[in-house]
Amino acid sequence: MKAFSKLVTRLAALEGDQWELQLRAREMNEAGGDIIELTIGEPDVPTPHEMVDVCFQAIANGRTRYSPAEGELSLRQTLADKYSARTGRQIGPDNFICYPGTQTALYAAMQLLAEPGDEVLLPDPYYATYEAVIRSTGADIVPVPLHQHAGFRLQPEDLEDCITSRTKVLLLNNPHNPTGVNLNEDELRAIAEVCARHDLWIIADEVYEALIFDQRFASLFDMDAFAERVIVVSSISKSHAAPGFRSGWMAASQEVCSAAIPPAVAMLFGNQPFIADMTTWALTHDVSVTATMRDAYARRAKLAADALSRSDVLTPLPPQAGMFLCVDVSATGLSGSEFANRLLDTESVAVMPGSSFGAGAAHLIRLSLTVPDQDIETACARICRFAAQVALQPT
Ligand SMILES: Cc1ncc(COP(=O)(O)O)c(C=O)c1O
Repeated sequence: MKAFSKLVTRLAALEGDQWELQLRAREMNEAGGDIIELTIGEPDVPTPHEMVDVCFQAIANGRTRYSPAEGELSLRQTLADKYSARTGRQIGPDNFICYPGTQTALYAAMQLLAEPGDEVLLPDPYYATYEAVIRSTGADIVPVPLHQHAGFRLQPEDLEDCITSRTKVLLLNNPHNPTGVNLNEDELRAIAEVCARHDLWIIADEVYEALIFDQRFASLFDMDAFAERVIVVSSISKSHAAPGFRSGWMAASQEVCSAAIPPAVAMLFGNQPFIADMTTWALTHDVSVTATMRDAYARRAKLAADALSRSDVLTPLPPQAGMFLCVDVSATGLSGSEFANRLLDTESVAVMPGSSFGAGAAHLIRLSLTVPDQDIETACARICRFAAQVALQPT
């Protein structure tokens, strides 16, 4: 047999399985275990029934034919209206390509920009799939440290230090998973100024835009001076409790979007019109689920942070956005991965080991806030009990 392509070998060479613990917890639950799962970011509320109805109706109305590779015009026009209002600039349908979720849009954006020989700047900690997305292109990853003492906020001087003549792209996730940091306009501008000075592209993953607790959302795409070098990727997965519908998009200059069409033809040959109709409906109606989730995640983040800070050896790091809470477990003497694995076995609570999110998170665990308050309370009590036991053990 001839060998597989370099893409396969590059991805196979990635170290570790980031989702291993989550899969183990799921298997334990399926085998009758009573595990509280605080692993992945799956909303605990159903997709609003109105959206499901619109989708069914569209299917019944025959919206099941091929659509253009770039996505249905009606959805791209809706996105254009949304982003024109957001940016204050006139944005048109040709500034969008629709993809099945942020993940696909991100993969497509990275393929447009990076290739072997290039370097991609990746603030570390980072979302678990980013490494594979960058590696798939053959480009090298350059982690930019996000320091806990700086609140995990990307510092322009750290970015500057990592730039070489090979640097091509910064992959910026704001609001950020796993830390829940929401960078403000001034911080983003300072980051973009470094990128502009070195003529870098910026891919901005803004999937948590709608889940900011108390602050405003800011984006480099909304700043005229930088918009041309920014590719936004986002979706309705998090904002509308609809991850399984796989409905996302890329927002960028017309030049970027025209370059993205041939790869979209090659890969997708269009999206599902009934999903586009449902997304158009969702983006043009006030759907209460967004506020419901945002309020619940903010409330549970506080509940969990308060409960965990009663432990002498746990330091919760309260988020400003998103659906997660990170906790520094280094004072227990365990790594995030050891802590998470032993916690699962002894207390039947599943959390993500920080190492799934880069070396910069190896001393952390990440709790998903997508379970009822009561489960958060029970899980936190068990986490504190486990941490206390570990702290008592001789090292
Ligand atoms: C930062 C980030 N980007 C992208 C995704 C994937 O989003 P989508 O469901 O739109 O593909 C996630 C999902 O957890 C995420 O946390």
